[in-house]
Amino acid sequence: MINPRVFVSRKIFPEALELLSQVAEVDVWPDELPPNPQELGNKIANADGLLTTIMDRIDASILDRAPRLKVISQLAVGLDNVDVEEASRRGILVGFTPGILSKATADVGFALLLSAARRIGESERWVRAGGWEMSFHPMYWLGAEVNGATLGIVGLGQIGLEMAKRGLGFDMRVIYHSRTRKPELEEKYGLEYVPPQELLSESDFVSLHIPLTPETRHFISEPELRMMKPTAILINLARGPVVDPKALYTALSEKWIQAAALDVTDPEPIPPDDPLLTLDNLVITPHIGSASVSTRREMCMVAARNLAAGIRGEKMEHCANPEIYPSKGL
Ligand code: DGY
Repeated sequence: MINPRVFVSRKIFPEALELLSQVAEVDVWPDELPPNPQELGNKIANADGLLTTIMDRIDASILDRAPRLKVISQLAVGLDNVDVEEASRRGILVGFTPGILSKATADVGFALLLSAARRIGESERWVRAGGWEMSFHPMYWLGAEVNGATLGIVGLGQIGLEMAKRGLGFDMRVIYHSRTRKPELEEKYGLEYVPPQELLSESDFVSLHIPLTPETRHFISEPELRMMKPTAILINLARGPVVDPKALYTALSEKWIQAAALDVTDPEPIPPDDPLLTLDNLVITPHIGSASVSTRREMCMVAARNLAAGIRGEKMEHCANPEIYPSKGL
């Protein structure tokens, strides 16, 4: 019998590859840059399983190249790069890694919030450029107070809730808007549900935690930025296209809002000559929300276990399309 084959589209933790090698022949993409669609198609032509990251676009055209594919395992919680419906139509299971990364991602969210509020990146650049000439000045480098301010969470999923908890630790008032209202969380944590307009106009910090879908593309654009306070700070560590980058540039340069902090951009990576990078009131990190050693290791392990389960014909730990289990006798 031929061994199952899996293609892993990026180098991952060796222990995760070791786990996969117990169920299949493993082919790992060796380069730092991801395979292009043509290369990916070649690699999965005979594959039974595929481990993907958010940089691999998995749509009908790529799936046409992979007639044997039974399982896709995404090394992320976000699935906007994977056409899950198309995979389901073809009877392909899709795994993902929810939950595991919520705390690490919210840590970066709060680091961005603090950094933008207290102008950490901007003042650090000033020190390195030789600008620090006197020890202290009562009027230098004034920033926004975080303690006691209002934090508006857009999308109260697992990461949004972790962000809210961090805000509560700083004695913030936490308001939220989410597709579904969560009365039990409101009661447990003292969160207030508000309509989107109220969230935008009342928050000192607006933090985005919504998935990217056709409906949420440019969720924050000119009208929303104009609704925010001139002292407000926007934080995005969801997906870049949730914010309209041109509108954000105008809002930051014309000071409709105070500052923004982004861990995700549109496009991603952001080109070095993007006008946003000229702004001092922007804090930016390169999509590092989940990048703590233990979280990334655990994400790799879960992705490997999801893939191995799919190859073995078993249920996964985290499946994005469990509705197709019955068609597979599971
Ligand atoms: C996710 O999981 O969706 C992140 O963006 C990548 O860690």
